Amino acid sequence: MNREALVDTILGDRTREIGGAGTAFAPANIALCKYWGKRNEELNLPVTSSLSVSLGSLGTHTTVEPAGQDAILFNGDVLPTNHPIAERLLKYIRLLCGGSTSGVSVETRNSIPTGAGLASSASGFAALVKALDQACGWNLAGRELTILARLGSGSATRSIYPGFVEWHRGSRDDGMDCYAEALDDQWPDLRLGVLTISAEQKRIGSTAGMKQTTTASPLYQAWPGKVAEDLPRLRTAIEQQDFQQLGETAESNALSMHATMIAAQPPVLYWLPESVGWMHRIWDARREGLPVYFTMDAGPNLKLLFLKEDESMVMRFAPDLTVVDLWEQTSCSRQGRPKT
Ligand code: PMV
Repeated sequence: MNREALVDTILGDRTREIGGAGTAFAPANIALCKYWGKRNEELNLPVTSSLSVSLGSLGTHTTVEPAGQDAILFNGDVLPTNHPIAERLLKYIRLLCGGSTSGVSVETRNSIPTGAGLASSASGFAALVKALDQACGWNLAGRELTILARLGSGSATRSIYPGFVEWHRGSRDDGMDCYAEALDDQWPDLRLGVLTISAEQKRIGSTAGMKQTTTASPLYQAWPGKVAEDLPRLRTAIEQQDFQQLGETAESNALSMHATMIAAQPPVLYWLPESVGWMHRIWDARREGLPVYFTMDAGPNLKLLFLKEDESMVMRFAPDLTVVDLWEQTSCSRQGRPKT
């Protein structure tokens, strides 16, 4: 099955016309158990399931509406339609709405602080598909939105929902059983802080990094087994609000993902010397009794996990940390979760 056929299966005989304006918000998300490796590149089907937490009101606000010609406003700047970001957004809109769509205006704004080094493609595609759902009057269920968001960027599938979200790998070739689902549990005292080491564009994007690892790392074969151990540990930690188990599992999962990359030939290494310096500082702080753990994605920045009761100690330890309120929702996202 190709992307077009998958979109046809989901949209059925619904109109592809952008009939009016649609506005939506989607949060960014950070995986506690990572997605690393695709089993199908065309449909963005992952090798393993993954589990994330969404970043409250940090994410992307997007409005789409019909227009005489294509116009993209990105964080307040007009982008030429041949800009790589504009091209990616327009290609996705044409995939969902058909090539005959005359013109579309897209206004998209990230509430993620610039320079935080947080990826915005996940919240970007999730907000875009929700905005299109409104603009075209599709009224899709949450599960269907997560499948369509996946076609924009894999991790976007988890950004459809707030809170903890599990993305099921599924086993079907057509990807119809590969979707994301929100967990019922909330953990208001859990905190995530972003430690920005560099906000520069990374040299290897996640798609290329994944491909290099799956095809050229002897350690990649151990990765699905690691995820199979970590997912149930994380689910239990979340259910029982067992912070030590959550932190240990998330940190070890991230380090294992990076180990598979480092072992690739040629290697994929996102860490900078300061990233490693901070890892040592975090391990030292833990030995001295401060319960703080980290996770890392396809970049040099660390995301710290800790509890509300330790926030002031953690801020003394890392004064430049951007702390995220994971359960704060914007007026858009509070309008309720999509139907499942
Ligand atoms: O969805 P992508 O292609 O940006 O890949 C995301 C990969 C990681 O951030 C490293 C892991 C994850 O699960 O988010």
